[in-house]
Amino acid sequence: MTKRIAVIGFGQRLTAVLAAMREAGWDFEIAGQADPAPTNGAPVFPSVAALLADGPFDLVMIGSPNHLHYEHLLAAFEAGYPVFAEKPIVRTEAETFALARHLSSAPPLYIGLVMRSMPIVREVIARVDGGELGTIVSMDATEHLPPEHGAYLARNWRRKEEWGGSFLLDKVCHDFDIFGRIAKSRAARVASFGGKTIFASEHASEHEAYNAVDAGWAGANDAFHSDMDVSDHQVVLVEYANGMRLSFHSNSHTSLTERRWYVAGTKGTLIADLVRNRLMVRTAHDRGKPERIDYGGRTADAHNGADQAMARDLLDALEGRAAFPVTPLESLEAGLTVMAVDRAMREGAVVDCAPIWADYDLAVSALK
Ligand SMILES: NC(=O)c1ccc[n+]([C@@H]2O[C@H](COP(=O)([O-])OP(=O)(O)OC[C@H]3O[C@@H](n4cnc5c(N)ncnc54)[C@H](O)[C@@H]3O)[C@@H](O)[C@H]2O)c1
Repeated sequence: MTKRIAVIGFGQRLTAVLAAMREAGWDFEIAGQADPAPTNGAPVFPSVAALLADGPFDLVMIGSPNHLHYEHLLAAFEAGYPVFAEKPIVRTEAETFALARHLSSAPPLYIGLVMRSMPIVREVIARVDGGELGTIVSMDATEHLPPEHGAYLARNWRRKEEWGGSFLLDKVCHDFDIFGRIAKSRAARVASFGGKTIFASEHASEHEAYNAVDAGWAGANDAFHSDMDVSDHQVVLVEYANGMRLSFHSNSHTSLTERRWYVAGTKGTLIADLVRNRLMVRTAHDRGKPERIDYGGRTADAHNGADQAMARDLLDALEGRAAFPVTPLESLEAGLTVMAVDRAMREGAVVDCAPIWADYDLAVSALK
């Protein structure tokens, strides 16, 4: 049966997700959209309330800028239809605790932490859970973007904390979700340094790379002279409650791009190269060639087929065939971890995460 979908915030991301849903075999019609700057022909409603009053819908999809997720999620909960919302689920600690309190009355909720659907990421989780690597002791990870992408972040709404949250929250809450899943533990202490060094006036350049992508909603003209108040590079240290230790390095203006996780356990080591979609694993005393799995399917959007995989997971979840690979609580916890990291950067201090988790657990306990 054709699914009736309502879209709130129909920008670049949901355009891509909906295209992937079609490719994955979904049968749907877009019954309406609420977006102040529509870029496609789907029926436009004057407000989110007017759109949601036009139900029933099989799915409400939220792809608005991050500062609007909380308000749009509450409106969709009230309407009562299943919801797919883009990451990060919300933007601040206060919104996290408040949303946790609303989850008990929420309809089915699926968060677009799309890496969870990638075959390579599923394999990483399976190898860790299967015990082949032993106890995971430490890991390091990277996310290095090309100048075009960094310049987009410096001109798009993500450049402002009040809209995007932070560089890391918007860009790598995916990765911190998986790091927590690998650790099977919460961050206990975090430290971080970062800032805006690259997209500053002294590095201004007329190169076409810096305007290669349209800046979109509330965009700025010039990557080097915008009112950006988030980092353009950042380093992080995390100690998880069970003792696993992580270092993370991200830079938004590199010529050797990378998204790589190096996971070191007592019995083996694994490298996941998320750009080249390749996994390498070897047990501790094996001196032969490492096992290599090449997942292929690399695509220009660097998502390597993840959107289509998530579209299949979403259909399976909606139709009751399988659980969606990530829960709303895991999504909130990934966000909170990144918010603690950003707090450490802001305060220039090692942040003890215990009080944050205590507030979160209190909010979640209202669910039980
Ligand atoms: N999972 C991923 O890999 C991934 C990738 C990119 C973006 N995202 C997420 O998707 C979301 C959208 O990002 P994007 O890149 O599509 O941004 P975008 O700017 O292209 O789209 C945002 C849309 O929201 C609209 N909008 C602004 N104010 C609104 C309001 N009050 N009500 C309704 N709509 C409003 C804008 O007009 C725009 O069309 C963000 O939360 C982002 O973090 C996720």
